[in-house]
Amino acid sequence: MTNVRVGWKQNLRDGPDLQKVRRARLSGPNIPGAEPPIRATGWPLNKIRRGSLVGRVPTIKHAQPMKIGILGSGTVARTLAKGFLEQGLDIMLGTRKPSSLSDWTEANPTSFVGSFQAAAEFGDIVVLAVKGYAVEEVLSGIGCHVLEGKPVIDATNPISDAGPEKGVLPYFTTHGESLMERLQRQCPDAHFVKAFNSVGSGQMVHPSLEGGTPTMFICGDNEDAKIVVTGILHSFGWEVEDMGGVEAARAIEPLAMLWCIPGFREGSWNHAFKLLKG
Ligand SMILES: NC(=O)c1ccc[n+]([C@@H]2O[C@H](COP(=O)([O-])OP(=O)(O)OC[C@H]3O[C@@H](n4cnc5c(N)ncnc54)[C@H](OP(=O)(O)O)[C@@H]3O)[C@@H](O)[C@H]2O)c1
Repeated sequence: MTNVRVGWKQNLRDGPDLQKVRRARLSGPNIPGAEPPIRATGWPLNKIRRGSLVGRVPTIKHAQPMKIGILGSGTVARTLAKGFLEQGLDIMLGTRKPSSLSDWTEANPTSFVGSFQAAAEFGDIVVLAVKGYAVEEVLSGIGCHVLEGKPVIDATNPISDAGPEKGVLPYFTTHGESLMERLQRQCPDAHFVKAFNSVGSGQMVHPSLEGGTPTMFICGDNEDAKIVVTGILHSFGWEVEDMGGVEAARAIEPLAMLWCIPGFREGSWNHAFKLLKG
């Protein structure tokens, strides 16, 4: 099996191992029983060095471009993937059926598509962008060891199947336990950071709103991972407010319910939260 995993901390110090990246491009991670990743053509290897997070990740100097594994193929996954591609970063989308994403690979020939596991192995940073009710099963399928020590950006929301009631989405979690706390317990050595869940995909990357720069609320137990995610959010045009440990996801996840109400009630989806301070 081709090992494409490069520790994100090592990457911050040394940059990606280009030999490993090259091998991954030629052969792809070999996950038994999974469809092989689709290799887009014409990727210039030197491109991986362009458009890094250099200067955008506070307190970490000389950061090099990192590989991003995005679990999901929906609107959020594709929006964030495009944002990372614009930064010159290397991305792989993970899905149950890589062959169904030919439209994506044709439009984005410098990116990869693979299984959930291949994308998780590929990423120095992993993004969760699957349905909230599926994410625990997806992590079980991948195996927590693949996420060990990596920042895992959790954009998911625990929305249950029933539709909204007077504009209010139902969640399958309770006020006392968020989805991200469940994920952190499931994979204790992964560094989950809640982010991107409290805004629509249309504003996730370079939000343009008359009210100014919006605020992304984040939380998570690992400070280094939050620094990395803060750098990404700054580069995507966000102010960031760190709300503390994983328990704060109990407050951040329901922000998506609040964000959706004007949409369901008035068809208005072009807004985002901003924290005003005295
Ligand atoms: N849409 C937004 O504006 C928005 C904003 C903030 C947060 N979010 C959250 O971000 C996440 C992604 O949202 P989305 O709108 O992009 O897409 P979505 O329609 O909520 O989810 C699509 C993804 O979920 C995967 N999925 C669905 N059922 C699955 C199952 N049973 N097992 C494994 N995977 C399954 C799909 O896998 P395949 O690729 O294999 O089909 C696909 O990748 C959700 O948790 C959502 O609540 C969405």
